[in-house]
Amino acid sequence: MILDSISYLLPIYWPYLVGALVPRDAALEAALHDSEAAGLPSIAVAPNQGRMLELMARSIGAKRILEIGTLGGYSTICLAHALPADGRLISLEFEPRHADVARRNIERAGFAAQVEVRVGRAVDNLPGVEGEGPFDMVFIDADKPSNPDYFTWAMKLTRPGSLIIVDNVVRGGGVADPDTRDANAIGVRRMNELIAAEPRVLATAVQTVGSKGYDGFAMLLVIG
Ligand code: SAH
Ligand code: DHB
Ligand code: MG
Repeated sequence: MILDSISYLLPIYWPYLVGALVPRDAALEAALHDSEAAGLPSIAVAPNQGRMLELMARSIGAKRILEIGTLGGYSTICLAHALPADGRLISLEFEPRHADVARRNIERAGFAAQVEVRVGRAVDNLPGVEGEGPFDMVFIDADKPSNPDYFTWAMKLTRPGSLIIVDNVVRGGGVADPDTRDANAIGVRRMNELIAAEPRVLATAVQTVGSKGYDGFAMLLVIG
């Protein structure tokens, strides 16, 4: 009850933070507009979270980025902003229709040469990107039941110093319930168990309040 009230009351502040600190970006706004017009779900990261992804990628000087879950390419474009001229981003997307919208959005944003969207189930395409690693940063944001597999792959595809970010690790709180039957929450919980047992990462998770309500992201630094 109290948590419901808090999650209802707090989101009113996020537009202020976005307005105050995150400059408007015509290509990102067009990407959201065209994604919605094409009927894609409105589940891209919020503008302040997109900026956070760019900030993290820039902080580590990321040159090679892997994204799992492209949708309309909103977070892809945010991450691509951080890339140097010779940087490269591969984004994996299951839905061909999402990938088409994303490719157009990415091209309009000026990143067609650096960004490649690969269509298919991510678990099927991950072996194929192995030769293109190691990646400096991996952003996991696709089907949540597969998060344990995505984390395992991220460990294979990175090196000490790489960052792994996972979106939607709170999703309404089901993750805190050990008896949850929600496949998304179970996916996040199993991933967290793998992370906790993995001595090669320094991990944390932060709760967020944004345009999608109450959620959170996990941040992992590969240290060994
Ligand atoms: N990262 C995006 C949002 C991604 S939404 C952003 O913030 O802008 C999740 C995406 O993962 C959807 O487009 C969905 O089609 C895709 N997806 C779902 N299952 C998948 C799978 N098995 N492999 C790859 N992508 C998948
Ligand atoms: C939802 C939100 C996300 O950020 C995501 O990656 C998948 C689903 C949602 O709100 O349903
Ligand atoms: Mg997400």
